[in-house]
Amino acid sequence: MRDRYCVFGNPVGHSKSPAIHALFARQTGEDLVYEARLAPLDGFAAAVRDFIADGGRGANVTVPFKEEAFRLCDTLSARARLAGAVNTLSFAHGRMAGDNTDGAGLVRDLMENLRTPLAGRRILLLGAGGAARGALGPLLEQMPATLVVANRTAARADALVRDFSAQTPPSGEPHAASVAGRGAHARASVGKGAHTRVSVRAGAMVRGCGFADLAGQAFDIVVNATSASLAGEAPPLPAGVFAPGALAYDMMYGQGDTAFLALARQLGVARLADGLGMLVGQAAEAFFVWRGVRPETLPVLAALRAA
Ligand code: ATR
Repeated sequence: MRDRYCVFGNPVGHSKSPAIHALFARQTGEDLVYEARLAPLDGFAAAVRDFIADGGRGANVTVPFKEEAFRLCDTLSARARLAGAVNTLSFAHGRMAGDNTDGAGLVRDLMENLRTPLAGRRILLLGAGGAARGALGPLLEQMPATLVVANRTAARADALVRDFSAQTPPSGEPHAASVAGRGAHARASVGKGAHTRVSVRAGAMVRGCGFADLAGQAFDIVVNATSASLAGEAPPLPAGVFAPGALAYDMMYGQGDTAFLALARQLGVARLADGLGMLVGQAAEAFFVWRGVRPETLPVLAALRAA
């Protein structure tokens, strides 16, 4: 029997993950099947148990189950702990291991597909919910010069930055994160493997604020991790947040520009990207967690765009 994987979500019918993993399997010659499974809103744990009983080896988890998956796991990777959510489950020896590949997928899309280095750059992360939380660690790992988290509710951005700096790595050692005054430097490194140790050194370069506090600041990379685009809205950004040559990146995707990308275009930003590349990137990282093979993402992204 071929190894079985799936994505759990509710709804899940629209998921592109089965198509993405089928393309990865073909590209790498891995023999597996991957399906979408609708889990009842109050029946995620039972759905996972059923899938394991059916011979499932691993699963992706999407909205709204990522936090519940986090709580169900027997073991968690460092990056899943940092994200507080799990999007990748592996089942072996009667145990459930949880990982989070969302942030790694974003970083890979930015750096490889969009050829946008992050080291030494000024990054603005919009939003302070689950999507922003998952991106924060992997972005910091790339050693940007500045990472500002801006949110409609400024206190939530502050809390996210504080929470993040208070995290203790799984090894049990307290890490050196501190989000003190302005001017300090930050270093972060999160191991590449699924279960490696985290060591983070964060200084004042990681900051939380409200949108209005962004006036007078410019960034090289602006990542929209709010869900505003779902409502056809864009965060109210002061003019000037996009530095010349900046990249505007929306984690959401759909037909045409999202509201955030439309706003960026209106403000004269020429480099725009939606979140389809992040979706393919997180899938590639999950595939690597399960199979030990890292698929090429660009051809798969091109195939999805052409579909
Ligand atoms: P997710 O898991 O997708 O991140 P979430 O945890 O509900 O979802 O977080 C949604 C994020 O989008 C929050 O940062 C939210 O801002 P608040 O914390 O102020 O609620 C942000 N958001 C949602 N709608 C928005 C809008 N219309 N304009 C700006 N920000 C918005």
